[in-house]
Amino acid sequence: MGISTKFMGFNIKSPIVVGSCGLTSNIETLKKIEQAGAGAVILKSLFEEQITQEMNVNIKVYSANFSGYPEAYNYIQEHTKGEAISNYINLIKEAKKNLTIPVIASINCITASEWLPFVKMVEDAGADGIELNMFILPSDISLSHEDIERLYEDIVHIIKRATSLPISLKISHYFSSLTRFAQKISWLGITNLNIFNRFYQSDINIDTLETIPVNIKSNQDELFNTIRWTAIISPEIRCNLTSGSGVHKTEDVIKLLLAGADTVQIVSVLYDEGLNFIVEANNKLQKWMEQKGFSSINQFKGKLSVKKNKDASAFHRVQFMKYYSGIE
Ligand SMILES: Cc1cc2nc3c(=O)[nH]c(=O)nc-3n(C[C@H](O)[C@H](O)[C@H](O)COP(=O)(O)O)c2cc1C
Repeated sequence: MGISTKFMGFNIKSPIVVGSCGLTSNIETLKKIEQAGAGAVILKSLFEEQITQEMNVNIKVYSANFSGYPEAYNYIQEHTKGEAISNYINLIKEAKKNLTIPVIASINCITASEWLPFVKMVEDAGADGIELNMFILPSDISLSHEDIERLYEDIVHIIKRATSLPISLKISHYFSSLTRFAQKISWLGITNLNIFNRFYQSDINIDTLETIPVNIKSNQDELFNTIRWTAIISPEIRCNLTSGSGVHKTEDVIKLLLAGADTVQIVSVLYDEGLNFIVEANNKLQKWMEQKGFSSINQFKGKLSVKKNKDASAFHRVQFMKYYSGIE
């Protein structure tokens, strides 16, 4: 019974991809993730913001002393950048030394400037690919949706020129025309689209009058949005599709494959239930395939996508109206 599938153009032995998170920043946990049976792993993101912040701190502290010594100033800038990067590069090298599954580096970015030279370092360190975790908050009133979409496209173009590594783009569902955008961006030569990323969410504490972070981890209600968009987007794009956000049961993996995902990304459930979830998901998937008479993922992948599902209207809003109108 084969549960192999495609991810970023690679053949991988399981559709379970462990997404970028704290668990994937540690070599011992990475080894356990592979032993548990994950098909691929995406390392914890290197945050563009984090690098910039590090540099700014040093600029403030050292700028007075170095005002007459531009080379020293440059050295500090390079040095501070190098620390965040060298830790990351070491993680990639260690992961490649110890793992046989694809190891994907991840960069959380909203521009393609400061960090661009580091893509080459990631490549030289042996990463099998790079994931761009992108979300540009549409809060700038001067930017139209076309302007914002163009930013994503420009970044992909620039990164493609900077590396020959396969590129995965991880996006949110906050686009005016998500399907069209997904299709367009898949034509730019990325090898994988990852839906969806997850944001820092803020709540307001009415006692302290402060904003506070909430919902670091996902909950299963989020799965239905992922199922819908997987079913709609999967037939339209020209690259592999990873789906996730809200996967908390082993059945959820099967649902996303049926909706058309090539691979399923998991994170929160690993924090809640441990790495054994990967073992269970692979076993359950195999058993379910056996019961249904499928000998490969290809035989059922996308069977319930919008293009192949006779009842595809279930994924559209009109069905909601029908159901709600019956509830008094
Ligand atoms: C603790 C934690 C840390 C995360 N760190 C990152 C990160 O560094 N980069 C990234 O792209 N996504 C990060 N994510 C988002 C996950 O990769 C994933 O997209 C999201 O959690 C949705 O999947 P889930 O429902 O399986 O949790 C993080 C999520 C969690 C819960």
